[in-house]
This record gives sequence, structure tokens and C-alpha cells, in this order.
Amino acid sequence: MNYIVFGGTKGIGKAVVDGLLDEGHAVWSVSRSDVGQLGVESILWDALSEEPIIGLPAVIDGVVYTPGSINLKPFNRLKSEDFQSDFVLNVLGIVKALQACYPGMKEATNASVVLFSTIAVSQGMLFHTSIAAAKGAVEGLTRSLAAEWAPQIRVNAIAPSLVNTPLASRLLSTPEKIEASALRHPLRRIGEPNDIAQAVVYLLSNRSAWTTGQILAVDGGMSAIQ
Ligand SMILES: NC(=O)c1ccc[n+]([C@@H]2O[C@H](COP(=O)([O-])OP(=O)(O)OC[C@H]3O[C@@H](n4cnc5c(N)ncnc54)[C@H](OP(=O)(O)O)[C@@H]3O)[C@@H](O)[C@H]2O)c1
Repeated sequence: MNYIVFGGTKGIGKAVVDGLLDEGHAVWSVSRSDVGQLGVESILWDALSEEPIIGLPAVIDGVVYTPGSINLKPFNRLKSEDFQSDFVLNVLGIVKALQACYPGMKEATNASVVLFSTIAVSQGMLFHTSIAAAKGAVEGLTRSLAAEWAPQIRVNAIAPSLVNTPLASRLLSTPEKIEASALRHPLRRIGEPNDIAQAVVYLLSNRSAWTTGQILAVDGGMSAIQ
């Protein structure tokens, strides 16, 4: 199968690339830097730009879009530009990515799309207004597009809690912060990229062939258990 991972160089996207390679798939990583990984094609593209995405394969069996932000500030300190930049990267980037991949996905028998929300959409969290607003839009887009592209293309999203990636490094910069975050989760640890990547690989595969329009919580039990 041919899979496109937007943001395959770091964090969750890199773990998805590794998981797909383990299963013998062909993988393209699209991001601002070269993935530098044997067996993976790199396409250079900035999700904030209006540039075309050059080098996508003719047939695309699945797409994952991982670029995102954690811009945490008290509401009164957030400017319009903060809301706009979170929306451009988290939502409009998906629009550009999926419009570019659509011709290839139409050529596949049944393609699958996996997008990223956050636990902060379903659970009110301090200082998350901007990112929660942008990711709330991702959840709406997921369900709407799942309706529009059924039955040929499935569209799902994952809503993680805190995961140990470069994006979250400021929240996890000391052993004390890591411990405190771990204790907030019913499963008593923060997420690792592979915890999320396994769910992504499942949603891309035919093992989830009867699942679309879902927001899957992969969050150490945080959203479901007191
Ligand atoms: N980590 C968490 O705790 C957490 C929690 C909840 C939700 N999430 C969501 O999960 C998703 C993945 O997060 P992560 O922690 O794996 O992120 P990450 O560590 O920042 O990795 C993001 C990837 O996206 C690429 N990227 C970033 N900006 C880009 C741009 N403008 N254009 C193209 N590519 C870009 C990066 O590659 P280059 O630098 O090479 O461009 C990198 O490969 C995000 O949507 C995030 O909001 C994460």
C-alpha cells in the first residue's frame, strides 16, 4: 500500500512511518525537512504555504496529517493572530493536504485518512482556548468529510492526551513535570509516540474497514475515567 505521512520526520508521525515500514508499505513523508530515512520518500512542503505538493504517487491508500501546535496561554493574552495561526496549521493545512491527495485516493480501492484532534476538545483545560477551537474544527471536518467521501474513503481522527514528542517538550522538560503529568492519567504514564502510531496504523488498514467519522481517544484513560 502507498501511504502519505504529513510530518513523518518527528514525534508521532515518525512513529507512524516506522510502523508502516514494519508492515512492508511504501511511505512518503511530507514536511519542511528531509526525513533522511532509508526506504522513505521525502517531499518538502510547508503546510503554511500555498505551494503545490510535488511528487505524490498516482495511487494513495492512506493519508495521515500530523502537523499541529500546542499554544497555551490565558485567553486574555491570546491575540487574533494566535487563533489564526493555530487554525492555518491545524485546519487549513489539512484542507490543502487532502485536496492534493484526493486524486490519488480516488485511484485506490478504499483509502483511509487519519487526522489529529486533542483531548482538550472534549475536556475543558486551562489555557487551551486557541488550540481547542482549532482542533474542534478538525473534529467537525472529520465527520463532514467522512460523510462526503463515504463509502470509498474513510476519515477518522485521533484525540491524544500528552505524548512525549518534540511538540510537547516544554511541558515535559523536567522529571517532576513528567511525573506530575503521568499521575494525572488513570494509566499512570504519559503517552509515547508508538502508543498513538499503533492506533494510526490500525485506522489506515483494512482492519478498521467498518469505521469512519470517529474521533478515537488514545489518552491513557483520561477522557473516560475519573
Ligand atoms: N504531543 C502531544 O502531547 C499531543 C497532544 C495532543 C494532540 N497532539 C497532536 O498530535 C499531532 C502530532 O503531534 P506531535 O507531538 O507528533 O508533533 P511534532 O513533534 O511537532 O511533529 C510534527 C511533525 O509535523 C511537521 N510539521 C510541523 N510544522 C509543519 C509545517 N508547517 N509544514 C509541514 N510539516 C510540518 C514536523 O516536521 P518538520 O519540522 O520537518 O516540518 C514534524 O514531522 C499534532 O497535530 C498535535 O496537535 C499532540
